[in-house]
Formats: sequence, structure tokens, C-alpha cells
Amino acid sequence: MSKDVRGTYKAQSAAAGARSGSPKASEAAESSRKERRPRTKMVPVPSESIIPERDAGKSPVLECRHLGIDFGGLRAVDDFNLMVGRTEIAGLIGPNGAGKTTVFNLLTKVYQPTRGTILLDGMDTASMDTAKVSQAGIARTFQNIRLFGSLTVEENVRIGLHTQIPCGMWSGMFRLPRHWLSEKEFHDRSLELLDVFNMADNANDIAGSLPYGAQRRLEIVRALATNPKLLLLDEPAAGMNPSETAELMDNIVRIRDTFGIAILLIEHDMDLVMGICEGIAVLNFGKIIAKGTPEQIQNNPQVIEAYLGKQDAEQGGE
Ligand SMILES: Nc1ncnc2c1ncn2[C@@H]1O[C@H](COP(=O)(O)OP(=O)(O)OP(=O)(O)O)[C@@H](O)[C@H]1O
Ligand SMILES: [Mg+2]
Repeated sequence: MSKDVRGTYKAQSAAAGARSGSPKASEAAESSRKERRPRTKMVPVPSESIIPERDAGKSPVLECRHLGIDFGGLRAVDDFNLMVGRTEIAGLIGPNGAGKTTVFNLLTKVYQPTRGTILLDGMDTASMDTAKVSQAGIARTFQNIRLFGSLTVEENVRIGLHTQIPCGMWSGMFRLPRHWLSEKEFHDRSLELLDVFNMADNANDIAGSLPYGAQRRLEIVRALATNPKLLLLDEPAAGMNPSETAELMDNIVRIRDTFGIAILLIEHDMDLVMGICEGIAVLNFGKIIAKGTPEQIQNNPQVIEAYLGKQDAEQGGE
């Protein structure tokens, strides 16, 4: 087995390519991903983080200071320090059970932290609940898809939009002009957002009837509808075949460029992580063990050990 993290996952994605029956598609996706790999210059910032040079001098969109949560005796996340630049695509990786989803649950206040601080755009989120954090600018997708399966695609997007376009109770009850204007705004904006993933033609389809990859894309569109500053994606490529994953990578970069937002993603597909993330943090047993650029992370001995286990990592180095 190859000794670097990328090599380890190359073996896995090759297996995935073989499972999907399209080794050629896998190879083509692989080489086009390599071409796309960003060469962002990263600059150091306080708290041992790095952010893209273009975001330097602006306040980070997210700053976590000594963040942690305990479940009984389990320190699921501990001393988690991270900054994410305003237009950065950042990655959070680590073995199963490392605490990655728990970090997202802390950022979105599904869990209240046991200790530490979360600053969103410089604002302390300590007193905020899930709805407030969403209004303040954090949106997320889930490891297991959470859509309203019996509603249409457009209705799912509208749920996200509802927090954005105000329409008062009276104008709704009496169908005043403001209500109709909002309806048109909702419809137009929904289609515009769906178009990001070429899904406008599916607007009237039942969400639950969409293929798996399309449901994952719809979840991202719904998250975007809340007009976030920071989009959290929990394993967006899970269950996707290599060509869907390659397309997703393009779309994540396009979303960042089009909306000018930051994206923090959790992913086990190392081709995706190393292909589009500018800064990466590695979590193991609830603690960050490494931060750096894709190149730095791939060659970090502690990261290799965390993924392969000490013995295998040593054998791989022989
Ligand atoms: N509500 C909870 N109560 C108790 N333990 C929890 C709770 N939520 C998470 N944990 C534990 O915290 C640890 C981290 O879980 P988490 O889901 O964050 O891992 P992960 O890095 O996302 O893993 P994976 O890659 O498998 O999704 C695990 O040991 C998990 O069992
Ligand atoms: Mg998880």
C-alpha cells in the first residue's frame, strides 16, 4: 500500500471506479482533477491557521477558539482551533469517529459547546440557537441526506428561501400585492439557484424520486438558498461515482466563485479534498493533529499514522 494519505485513498477510489464499472471514467476524472488542483498561496494567521492570501487583511468568516464538547466521559472534540478565510474552500478530514460531524453540529448549534468560542464573521455565537446561526450565515448539508422527500424540488429550495424574503402575515392572508411579488421572487430565485446544478428542469419533480446524486445536489442548493456566508458540506461526495464526484468538485469551486462564500467540507474522498481544498485540518480522536496545504497534509507523518495505524505507516515507509 502506498504510504501517503493520497495514495491510500487512491487505492480506495480506484476500487470505487472498478465497482462503478468505469475505470476509464475514473482515470479521466483523476487526470482532470490533477489539472484543476489550485495553487493558492496560503498565509499564516493567529491560532496556527492558514488562510488564502486573497482573504488576508479581512476578518475570517469563521474562527473557533479552544472549542470542545464532552459526551459523558468522551471528549468528542477538544481544543479545536480553526480559522476559515472569507472565500476559502477548507477541508476537515480524519478517520471514522474522529469528531468531524460533531464539529459541524457545534458550529450549527445542534450541540452547545462544553467549552470554547465560535466567532462567525467576528460575532460570538454563544447565545445563538440553530435558527439564529442559520440567519447569521451558516448553512449545512448532512452526512445522511435530509430532504423533504414528498415535496417537489422547488418546494425544498423554497424552504431555504423562506428565511430570506419577508412576506408578512397580513399580505399572505389577504393575498396583497406584496404576497404575489414574493411568490414570483421565490419562484425565480428557486430556479436561478437550481440552475447552478442544471436542475431547473427538475423543479416540479418529487425530491424523493430523484437519483441519489441529484438529491445530494438538491441539498446543497437548499443550503445555498439561505444565503450563507459559510457553507458546511458533510461528505458531499458520499455514494457518488467518480464522474459525479468530478462534476461536484467543479460545482463546489463554481459555487465559491459565484457566491463569493467560504466552504468548509468534510470528505473521505481524498481526490476531492486534495483537488479543491486550499487549507486542510486533520482531526483524530477529537483533536486537530495537523493543519496545512494539501501538499503538507499528504506528507505529514502524523496524518499518515492516523490513517494507516502506526505499524502500517512504518512498514509503508520501509
Ligand atoms: N450525541 C452523541 N452522544 C454521544 N456520543 C456522540 C454523540 N455524537 C457523536 N458522538 C461520538 O463522538 C465521536 C465522534 O463522532 P462523529 O460523528 O463526529 O465522527 P465523524 O468524524 O463524523 O465520523 P465519520 O467519518 O464516521 O462520519 C464518536 O465516538 C461518536 O460516537
Ligand atoms: Mg461524520
